[in-house]
Amino acid sequence: MRQEAVSLLRCPICKGALSQEGNSLLCAKRHCFDVARQGDVNLAPGRRADFYTKELFVSRAAVFEGGVFDPVIEAIGGAIERHVRAAQPVLVDAGCGEGYYTRRVLAERAMTRIGFDLCKEAVRLAARSDKAGSYFVGDLANIPLEDACADVLLDVFTPANYAEFARVLRPGGVIVKLSPRAGYLVQLREAAKDQLRHARYEGGRVEEYAASRMQVLETREITYTLPVSEALVWHLARMTPMLAGVDLERVDLSGVREITIDETMVVGQFTK
Ligand SMILES: C[S@@+](CC[C@H](N)C(=O)[O-])C[C@H]1O[C@@H](n2cnc3c(N)ncnc32)[C@H](O)[C@@H]1O
Ligand SMILES: [Zn+2]
Repeated sequence: MRQEAVSLLRCPICKGALSQEGNSLLCAKRHCFDVARQGDVNLAPGRRADFYTKELFVSRAAVFEGGVFDPVIEAIGGAIERHVRAAQPVLVDAGCGEGYYTRRVLAERAMTRIGFDLCKEAVRLAARSDKAGSYFVGDLANIPLEDACADVLLDVFTPANYAEFARVLRPGGVIVKLSPRAGYLVQLREAAKDQLRHARYEGGRVEEYAASRMQVLETREITYTLPVSEALVWHLARMTPMLAGVDLERVDLSGVREITIDETMVVGQFTK
């Protein structure tokens, strides 16, 4: 946990400012949160993430490192360059998972990088692989960050809490929200269709909902198809919640040689 991030945190219990004493973060009421050796801290005590497992995030990391999402990283970086003027912006990655986007988006630009997620194992992976960023276990419904502290709120394939996002964003700050479209990983869904209720994913109504909650500055579709190795297909099948409940031992993935990434990126701003 880096000092520039500690100064932006608030206690999830009483909402008072937190400061570091030794290996703990404390508020004025002495609510205490221990910083782990790896640097992460649990600011959602008693809350448990359901469904997401460490294995899913290990496979996600393998897919990310395989470059499958590099064009998405570029698109997010481009959006930040177009819309964020601050010399050293504060980027908050809400539902950061194992932290790939937190550490890789505009990796060369000086930023205060903060990632949080409800899944402890994911946050530990993130903290371990990135000493330049700060990571904590936190709940979207009670983000343990001060009001008006962030320039960019990144939300990649994670539920949005627009009330909390509006609170933590500075005036003029932007949300960059990514969500899957109908073609996302279509080859995997096709291979597993016997076990899926809907082989076709219809995509959410994220754009309309986002537009009803904030002023949309831009919307982009990010769509491409890449060749993938057998090893990467193995991880792709294990990294996506879309195949949750599917018995992968019974899915023949041998015919999957390419994979489609199909996403929408919405960039928005709150007008108060
Ligand atoms: C599909 S994953 C995306 C993770 C990461 N953004 C990525 O693209 O790899 C969705 C994430 O949302 C997190 N999440 C779900 N509900 C949450 C909540 N209430 N507070 C914080 N994180 C939450 C999950 O733990 C999970 O890591
Ligand atoms: Zn407190």
